[in-house]
Amino acid sequence: MSYQNKDYPLRPIKELEKSLKKPVELAHQVRKNAYAPYSQYLVGCVIVDSKGKVFTGCNVENASYPAGLCAERTAIVKMVSEGGKKIKEIVLVGSSLEPVFPCGMCLQVIQEFGEGCRVTSIDPKGKVFRQVPLSALFPFGFTPDKLHQ
Ligand code: THU
Repeated sequence: MSYQNKDYPLRPIKELEKSLKKPVELAHQVRKNAYAPYSQYLVGCVIVDSKGKVFTGCNVENASYPAGLCAERTAIVKMVSEGGKKIKEIVLVGSSLEPVFPCGMCLQVIQEFGEGCRVTSIDPKGKVFRQVPLSALFPFGFTPDKLHQ
């Protein structure tokens, strides 16, 4: 099913900005490492942090299904454990016909480290993309400041 959105349309890959070309290539590559024997749904994620450092992640499933990890959180955990502080760009390649966006749990984790970031998602054939700011994907997420208000 094709989802139409006038603010964040599906666009041909040739319109993608040059600086995201390499992260997109890496996301296709890391997607091949996905460990998804239960869903067969492969996802690759690339994070570019505020210093321009790049972190990759894939989904890692488990026989105990809820123990599985999405590609986005894999990449975020790698960023934080390597000293990265702030997410600038997220690039995603899923396995659906159209570009897909992070699940609710990942959006919450993305927000912790990525206020103001963008998510660029590409279809697995690499033909089209959609680019959406986190603020549009998750406008009322729970933020740390609310813990002490
Ligand atoms: N998955 C991700 O890794 N990222 C997403 O954005 C959507 C879903 C994974 C979780 C699970 O391993 C498989 O895809 C099917 O849900």
